[in-house]
Amino acid sequence: MTTDAQFVRSSFDAIASQGDQFTDRFFQHFFEAAPQVHSLFPSDMTQLKNSLWSTIGLVAKNADNLSALSGQFADMGTNHAGYGVKPEYYAVFCETLVATFAEFSGTEWNNEFEGAWTRVFDSVTQMMFRGIAKKAA
Ligand code: HEM
Repeated sequence: MTTDAQFVRSSFDAIASQGDQFTDRFFQHFFEAAPQVHSLFPSDMTQLKNSLWSTIGLVAKNADNLSALSGQFADMGTNHAGYGVKPEYYAVFCETLVATFAEFSGTEWNNEFEGAWTRVFDSVTQMMFRGIAKKAA
């Protein structure tokens, strides 16, 4: 049986060299879906796009043991609360990431990839939310 971690890793590996195109397209979709968040972002997105792509790579590589990254993602959640990111933005962010993976994966994509990435990003969100809770406490 193919696990979520295997689906996630293979779909990331297939497009690993297309990080610039992926993140450009992702933010284009994200700002269309949630225009109200645009003002939270810096005008030069180069560093953020690189950092987002390497984080997604890290998630893909560790998808079978995400809890190893829980401290790192909790800290990232705390930082995000500081940027003014509201919890309700996470669902559209993750849905847009999955939709962009579908777009870049082409005919390889199916419901199993969709389900695997959705569950993995959901776990990442839960880990980030623990950092938000810590900040609010
Ligand atoms: C799975 C969820 C998410 C992941 C993995 C993620 C990843 C990242 C990474 C790696 C960075 C750069 C490093 C850092 O500052 O921590 C970053 C920055 C940022 N993210 Fe996220 N993010 C997520 C959700 C969101 C959401 C929902 C928003 C909503 C608007 C958002 C907005 C931002 C902003 C505004 C920055 C800072 C830009 C700057 O001032 O440099 N992120 N994110």
